[in-house]
Amino acid sequence: MKLRLLHLEDNGDDVELVRTTLAREGLDCDILAVDSGPAYLQALQHSHFDAVLSDSSVPGYDGNEALLAARERFPGIPFIVVSAGAGTNPPDKRATGPATARLAKAELHRLGPTLKHALGQQAPAPVARTTGKPGMQYLIQAVQRLSLARDLPTIMNIVRHAARALVNADGATFVLRDHDKCFYAEEDAIGPLWKGQRFPLQACISGWSMLNRQAAVIEDIYRDERVPHDAYRPTFVKSLVMTPIRMVAPIGAIGVYWAKIHRATAEEIELLQALADSTSIAIEAADVYSNLERKVAEQTAEVRQRNTELEVLNKELEAFSYSVAHDLRSPLITIDGFAQVLLENLTESLDETNRKHLERITTAVRRMHRLINDLLGLSKIVRAPLNATTVDLSCLAWAAAHNLQESAPGRKAEFIVAEDITVQGDYGLMRIVVENLMSNAWKFTSRKELARIELGKGTDPAGHTVYFVRDNGAGFDPRYASKLFSPFQQLHPESKFSGTGIGLATVQRIIHRHGGQIWAESAVDCGATFYFTLGEFTPPEHPTS
Ligand SMILES: Nc1ncnc2c1ncn2[C@@H]1O[C@H](COP(=O)(O)OP(=O)(O)OP(=O)(O)O)[C@@H](O)[C@H]1O
Ligand SMILES: [Mg+2]
Repeated sequence: MKLRLLHLEDNGDDVELVRTTLAREGLDCDILAVDSGPAYLQALQHSHFDAVLSDSSVPGYDGNEALLAARERFPGIPFIVVSAGAGTNPPDKRATGPATARLAKAELHRLGPTLKHALGQQAPAPVARTTGKPGMQYLIQAVQRLSLARDLPTIMNIVRHAARALVNADGATFVLRDHDKCFYAEEDAIGPLWKGQRFPLQACISGWSMLNRQAAVIEDIYRDERVPHDAYRPTFVKSLVMTPIRMVAPIGAIGVYWAKIHRATAEEIELLQALADSTSIAIEAADVYSNLERKVAEQTAEVRQRNTELEVLNKELEAFSYSVAHDLRSPLITIDGFAQVLLENLTESLDETNRKHLERITTAVRRMHRLINDLLGLSKIVRAPLNATTVDLSCLAWAAAHNLQESAPGRKAEFIVAEDITVQGDYGLMRIVVENLMSNAWKFTSRKELARIELGKGTDPAGHTVYFVRDNGAGFDPRYASKLFSPFQQLHPESKFSGTGIGLATVQRIIHRHGGQIWAESAVDCGATFYFTLGEFTPPEHPTS
């Protein structure tokens, strides 16, 4: 049988000399001569060779590179350097091996025996030549790369090259099952095969291997009835092995093809099956991965969508409550004003009962006025821009304590404020927090002989700083602790402790805007403690409006 040789040589005379020398030696050779690196690489990529002859270098391309490229493409292929001064250029360690030789052009008479020797070294054991150590190495490399692959195109790319190299074949295809069709999705071959085409499962060999869940090993395709001969006639293929991907319910197949009649060895079939198994695992892993990725993406999109909707809704609600509160104030002012006029004009004629009725009207109107003002204040807080700065809570607490004591000089109270409690936050808003918590503490200790009000800080089990305002006042029923922060929720009768029930709702909004949490602990008549945290606070670039 003709030997196919690739010869890298830029001197035409030397090419001719080699050709005649080999013919004289009785070697029937088909020699493809190339004179540059790119031409050499292209030839390697597209054809199959039994051996490579190479000059030690051609302009712009070194013989060692040629050696590495040849070994990468055809592991173990005989490689003979034929150069003016053989041996001057030390061979690359990665590419030496039994089938490598170096000759000087002056000793061309040795070329025939050297080539026969190199082919002989490699030929007796086709398994060792094609699939022994290099095959195993390719398999290991392919498995490693497959384990990192995250999508089908990457997997197909790895497999089509690996399958071909693994068994030193002239072509490989990656076939995917598409319902009752076989889709030839990828290929790597010396000549075109069927990339992009679909064949019925029943009418092609990949379909046969998937349906029968076993490898099809065909030494001569034209003697096998399972092969659709017409589809193969335009191709170079003489022999093939088709291995299903996944034995249970195959999802595809890997085909390898030879241009010369080739009886695949048991070891080659085993290597291909191992590659098919790894491919199946890689496809399943990629599937899980892409499902996960899709779910995460879907959820993220969903959350984003919900946030946007909520934001819009919140803005609408804020705008609505602001305008309602705003518009409600003017009729109230009218009612209050005319009730006053009536009270004054009718002083003489009003009896006690009717005067009380009128007074009730004005008290209720004023309370409603206060409620509306507080509501307006709350909506302003949500809309106000945040200006981050260092805020001294201790200072704010002392100022609040001072004002509270001044408002009722007769009350006995003890204020305990830890020193230098500073936080990052908006000064104006943090003042509202401290004032509200302190004034609640002041209000709900009003029935105590000696009020005790404390501002301090501690650390929670997770190591976060927690600030607190504690008092020894009336306390509240802890079952209702979660209600405290809703607007207009009051746990005590208005007759005992007056207020509008908006203070803590405001405080909670401010704390949330600072990335923190607020909660309370208490028991009836045992005082109350309000705790809060402040998150990693970075003010937004644009004020919320
Ligand atoms: N220190 C406290 N001790 C006991 N109960 C408290 C304390 N602070 C708040 N509460 C309870 O929580 C309710 C809500 O408090 P919040 O500050 O929101 O409203 P308010 O003080 O009643 O009115 P406003 O602060 O709007 O004038 C209070 O009515 C009270 O029942
Ligand atoms: Mg209050």
